[in-house]
Amino acid sequence: MTRHFLTLLDLSTDEARHILKRAGELKAMQQQGTPHRVLAGKTLGMIFEKASTRTRVSFEAGMFQLGGHALFLHSDATQLGRGEPIEDAARVLSRMVDGIMIRTFDHAIVQTFAEHSRVPVINALTDLTHPCQLLADIMTYEEFRGSIEGRTAAWIGDGNNMTHSWINGAVTFGYRLQIACPEGYEPNPQLLDSARKLGAEIELSNDPLVAARGADLISTDVWASMGQEHEQKQREKAFATFQVSPEVMAQAHSDALFLHCLPAHRGEEVAAEVIDGPQSVVWDEAENRLHAQKALLEFLLAD
Ligand code: CP
Ligand code: NVA
Repeated sequence: MTRHFLTLLDLSTDEARHILKRAGELKAMQQQGTPHRVLAGKTLGMIFEKASTRTRVSFEAGMFQLGGHALFLHSDATQLGRGEPIEDAARVLSRMVDGIMIRTFDHAIVQTFAEHSRVPVINALTDLTHPCQLLADIMTYEEFRGSIEGRTAAWIGDGNNMTHSWINGAVTFGYRLQIACPEGYEPNPQLLDSARKLGAEIELSNDPLVAARGADLISTDVWASMGQEHEQKQREKAFATFQVSPEVMAQAHSDALFLHCLPAHRGEEVAAEVIDGPQSVVWDEAENRLHAQKALLEFLLAD
């Protein structure tokens, strides 16, 4: 059966652990100049319906380093942008390439695509989740602080695709999660409920100081995600007290790390002193997108 990676829950804990271990090995090989062309002759199609810097570059450079090839397919430049049905695009593309990565709006699009694809489909961000980012985030935390299992992660801000991936990550990786969102911007209740039923320990409040208390890491994201630009002004008001400031960081353990998937807005969701300060690991986090996704690509596409 074709394996897909649409949410973190598509991997067992053992598989996710294997991928992170392998990501560390591939990172070392890359740094030492050791060839690792495990996907020689393979092609990844990369469908983008939204903007991207990190995701595009990490997948494209990653495929090259693995000996394969990546095709950048922006929907504006393909028939998808002119209304070709997703099912047909999946049937056709999956007869030509070995894997397909999609960044889009509605999560149902990646699900439909996967249902009609003969090759693995990777979710590179939907309105619901961003699981590739979580692999890099956990890898980064563990490089600095060791196993995240049993630790406490705090999420402060919008209950968005990143929050949902942190929620799923609590199931896969066994950390406690303390979330604070403004009223009306809480995470998807069904997704939260499912994670709790699968054993995740998650607390939800409307108070950033409560969420940050005793945390081993704090993460946040933009107040208006891609597709919500028209809500920016209204969101600035709703989120005004949800900035990850030095005061919020002070509630966490003194060795707590700050993570952000980027791009960031200094002075909105995070204070410049925090993201540019000593507890921030955001540049390592961004780099680890490359290594974690190379391990994921190997897991899904290698013979
Ligand atoms: N974090 C992330 O996915 O960045 P891009 O939007 O630049 O790909
Ligand atoms: N929540 C953000 C994440 C960007 C990587 C968005 O969807 O725009």
